[in-house]
Order: sequence, then structure tokens, then C-alpha cells
Amino acid sequence: MKIAIVGTGYVGLVTGTCLSDLGNHVVCIDKDRAKISMLEAGRIPIYEPGLAGLVAKNVREGRLAFSVDLPRSIDGADLIFIAVGTPQGKSGGADLSGVWAVGRQVAESLRAPATIVIKSTVPVGTNAELTRQMSAITPVPFDVASNPEFLKEGAAIDDFFKPDRVVVGARRPEVAERLLELYRPILTHERPFLAMAPESAEMTKYVANCLLASKISFINEMANLCTGYGAHIDDVRRGIGYDCRIGFQFLAPGAGYGGSCFPKDVRALIHMAKMVGIPCQMIEAVDSVNEYQKEVLPRMILNHFGGSIRGMRIAVWGLAFKPETDDIRESPALVLIEELLQAGAFVRVTDPQAMGHVREIFGSRLVYCESPYSALESADALAIVTDWDMYRAPNFQLMRDLMRRRIIFDGRNCLNEAAALQAGFQYQGIGRLT
Ligand code: UGA
Repeated sequence: MKIAIVGTGYVGLVTGTCLSDLGNHVVCIDKDRAKISMLEAGRIPIYEPGLAGLVAKNVREGRLAFSVDLPRSIDGADLIFIAVGTPQGKSGGADLSGVWAVGRQVAESLRAPATIVIKSTVPVGTNAELTRQMSAITPVPFDVASNPEFLKEGAAIDDFFKPDRVVVGARRPEVAERLLELYRPILTHERPFLAMAPESAEMTKYVANCLLASKISFINEMANLCTGYGAHIDDVRRGIGYDCRIGFQFLAPGAGYGGSCFPKDVRALIHMAKMVGIPCQMIEAVDSVNEYQKEVLPRMILNHFGGSIRGMRIAVWGLAFKPETDDIRESPALVLIEELLQAGAFVRVTDPQAMGHVREIFGSRLVYCESPYSALESADALAIVTDWDMYRAPNFQLMRDLMRRRIIFDGRNCLNEAAALQAGFQYQGIGRLT
């Protein structure tokens, strides 16, 4: 098929690249000329494992191209995906100005019937509203389908080719059929194609993300309670996880969830609930528990040192909101760093991918260290905020030699607690005994 993807951010670039790898002819469009030039020069604007190689391969084989010219690129396309960002707006709801602008441009350029597919995460009712807005501009018949994405940053390529499910909201069966055709190569009995009304597809995305965020806030609250009562969250997790109605996934306690999706989508659903006057108390709690959780690590550090860390050197391992990404949006590390600085500490940070973005925010207020060990030089404490694999089994001997005081605050419970204690460290995790 001939496909145009409007919006070459994270979702658009991954989706376009993977669709081209399935044999489709794809043009990824963006109004950001610098980004398109960069991609044309073979450079990838984001860090995502496997993406650079897949882009290069499909460009080389002539199936993937980049453009700033929307009217020309959508001409003759079977499917036009909208994958522009929908950031949190002032009201807490999603800012849809990007979606409306693309819809307008597409409608103005449409010369033959087409199917527009909304990939961006959009509030329920956006499909209908976009259809209305575009119909007012163009006499050319078109359909608007909703096809939410469930990719995880850091594992996006794998998630694309092996989706748990593909959800498509379409008003006409022919449209769902067209998308079924597109996704057929990656569907199996266990990876079903689920066709439904656009409103249900739009809602599915929010319900999925909010439920996942709820699991995290729930286990974080339980971990905090464990600390209060001297229980160990690892044992409690084992105790509940073997119940197959509960399971283990997304129940890892930590320093709070971050990223470009959960915080924004949770708040967007709260806003949607307000708009129709339906109470949404659980989701509101998910958000406020997460805000509280981001403070747990800084508070733990301050409490340990009797309320004052002025002049102390604190090493921070991990800045990205999760491993395998350079994304720091809503990262709990940002909250921790700000609090440490406010309290007068000297902060030495390290991260294998995200240091550049953090430097843009904090500049010379921090010391940036290429290796986790150099961050520890004469440190009074170590705080871990992102569970990169490389931090999981550190050289405790070397750490002991480097640090001035031997205390580790593990905001992701990613170290082997017994090994840390055995190596002579004091250790505090989230809901773990000390
Ligand atoms: C999330 C969803 O997992 C994807 O399915 C969805 O497509 C995506 O949002 C989106 O809407 O685009 P992502 O934000 O990339 O994906 O990251 P996750 O792996 O879900 O992690 C989110 C945050 O939760 C991270 O800060 C992570 O550290 C935290 N987390 C995750 C926990 O604290 N505990 C857990 O058990 C799992």
C-alpha cells in the first residue's frame, strides 16, 4: 500500500518505518524541516534500539522516504496516518491543535477518496469532530479511522511487530477491512485485530494507560505502607503475584511513573470525566499518588541525613524516565535533582543516553559524569532513579573505594539488596527493609 504518515515524532517514525519494512511504500512527513533534513541524511532524532538500522534498510530499499511537502506526499496515498503530538493543554486535557491543523491541511489537499487514520492519542470524540471539520472543507469523500498505538519506548520495534492486539475504530466495515489488510502480516491468533466504533477505540487507549498507571500507583502506595510497617515489598509481590488474577506485571514499585504518556493520559482522562460531569476519583488518586511518589526518594535522603544535606555530594544514577530511552519528560529524576539542589547538595549525575537533555535544563548547576563510577567520586550518597541494566550488578568494591559514605538509595529496587549490605553499604529501597 501507499502510506503517508504525518508527524515524524516517536510514534510516526516508528510506525512509518515498521510499515515500510512490511513492504509498503511510506512517506514520513513533518513540518520541521531540520528534522526531515536530519532523517534524509541518515540520522535519527531519537534514541530507540534498532530504529536507526531499520530506517537505513528501508530507505536503501526505496520503500521509506521523508518530506516536508504534505500535499504532494499524500497524493494517491491509500492511508494517511496522523501521528502528531497531543501534549497536555492548559486545562489538563489534550491539546489537539496539531491534529486539527493536519486535518485541515489534508482536507485542503485531498484530490481523491482517502482513509485518514488517527494514531495520536486523542480524547473520545476526536474522530467524529475531525470528520466534521474536514467535511466542511472538502467535497471529496473520505473516512476517518482511529488506530491507537500501544508501543513502549525502548521496545517499540518489537511491540510493533509483535503487538498484543491491534485496535481499530471505524464507522464502515470496508475501512476496518483495509486496515486489517495492512496489519495482516503481523497478526496471529494470539495477536488479534479488534474492530470497534471509533469512540471505543479512542477510549481503549486511555483505559489501557490509566489502568497500567493505576497498577503502578497502587503498588507504590503499598510499598510505602510496607516501609511504615516493616514488611518487605518483594515478598509481598511474590505473595500476591502467583495469584494469576493479579500477576507480576506493572507492579514494580519505584520513584513514580514518568514519560510522555502516563502522566498526560491520566490527566486527560480526568479532564474528560469533568467535561461530562462523571466522577473519576480513582484516576485522580492515581495522579496524586504519583506526584507524592516522586517526593519519596528525596524525602528518604533528607531523613537519612537528619534533614540537612547542605554541602553534601550526591550521585544520581539514571535520568531518563525509564531505561532504553533518552526521554526525560516527567522523569522522577528531575524532581529529585531539583530538591537536592534546593537543599544545598552538590549533584553529580550520569545516564547512558539522557544527559544531553538534562544539561539543557540544569546547565552548570550539575556535574555530568560519563561513567556511573566517576559520579561516585567522594560522594556522600548514591541515588538510583532509572533501572538501566548496567546499574543492576555494580562493582561494589570499586564503589566503596570511591564513595566518602556508603549509603545507597535505590529508587527502582534494582540492586541486589543482600549484595549491597554484604559489601558494607547501607541500603534503602522503595518498600524494602533496611
Ligand atoms: C506506555 C505504555 O506502556 C504503552 O503501552 C503505551 O503505548 C505508551 O505508554 C503510550 O501511550 O504511548 P511508555 O510510556 O513508553 O509506555 O513506558 P512504560 O514502559 O509503560 O513505563 C512508564 C513509566 O512507568 C516509567 O517511568 C516506568 O519506570 C514506570 N513503571 C513501569 C513503574 O514504575 N513500575 C512498573 O512496574 C512499570
